[in-house]
Amino acid sequence: MQRLTDKVAIITGAGSGMGRTAAQMFAAEGARVVVAEFDERAGNETVATVTAAGGAATFVRTDVSNEDDARGMVDHAMAKYGRLDALYNNAGIMPEPDHSVVDTDVATWDRVMAVNVRGVFLGCKYAIPRMLEQGSGSVINVSSFVALLGCSVPQDAYTASKGAVLSLTRSLAVQFGGRGVRSNAICPGPIETPLLMEWLLKDEAAKQLRLARNPTGRFGKPEEVVNAAIYLASDESRWTNGAQFVIDGGISVNYF
Ligand SMILES: NC(=O)c1ccc[n+]([C@@H]2O[C@H](COP(=O)([O-])OP(=O)(O)OC[C@H]3O[C@@H](n4cnc5c(N)ncnc54)[C@H](O)[C@@H]3O)[C@@H](O)[C@H]2O)c1
Repeated sequence: MQRLTDKVAIITGAGSGMGRTAAQMFAAEGARVVVAEFDERAGNETVATVTAAGGAATFVRTDVSNEDDARGMVDHAMAKYGRLDALYNNAGIMPEPDHSVVDTDVATWDRVMAVNVRGVFLGCKYAIPRMLEQGSGSVINVSSFVALLGCSVPQDAYTASKGAVLSLTRSLAVQFGGRGVRSNAICPGPIETPLLMEWLLKDEAAKQLRLARNPTGRFGKPEEVVNAAIYLASDESRWTNGAQFVIDGGISVNYF
């Protein structure tokens, strides 16, 4: 039995990594997927892989940090499919110049906040009213394990942005849970996606440090995170609200 039959899901940043895997896995579970992605070629490629596998998906070019685009992605979902059941705020950036507060420039800080925090805000701003009209909906926000732990290889803008996503998720859960709209966060550990692998390829020491801290001795796979998102988008999670799912192979419980 498919777990997302008749559900409509917007997945931001679905042109790569976990977002692309999510589009494919959500569609395989019967969802109709809106691929809301900044990179037009990548977004269309995702749609092509979904439709080739017999699934339903459409692309809408979206920069999640831009208010008109955020409104447009929700309008697109409503116009195409007539409803909106899940907003999967997955798009996020981790630019190379983001390091410690003492050597990160303001432009990098602002760019990270614009995509990772304002992007989640704007998606919610336009999606939640539609969900409230329906009396149901699921907001799935992607935070990170770095929102829970300090890291000796700092990425301070990214870390702060993911902390903001977690706090915002709790506030949304409390505000809208009583009207059928649930909000939850996922905190992935290091996952084998282009975002992380391109960065770690250039920094073997950072890669080894991360592997050494993980009790499982490996990085996670996109589908290992998306499985939690499928649960959160489905009716199986109807009483799950304000939760943070840490999916990190146990890094965050490892003292030594
Ligand atoms: N990979 C990891 O180890 C890891 C760990 C914890 C959390 N995360 C988070 O998971 C999410 C997905 O990460 P990933 O590793 O799959 O990333 P990725 O870089 O592989 O994919 C991100 C996608 O988002 C798109 N994107 C970037 N800026 C955008 C914007 N302004 N508007 C719309 N789309 C935009 C990119 O074009 C890309 O297709 C991110 O929020 C990331 O911070 C990743």
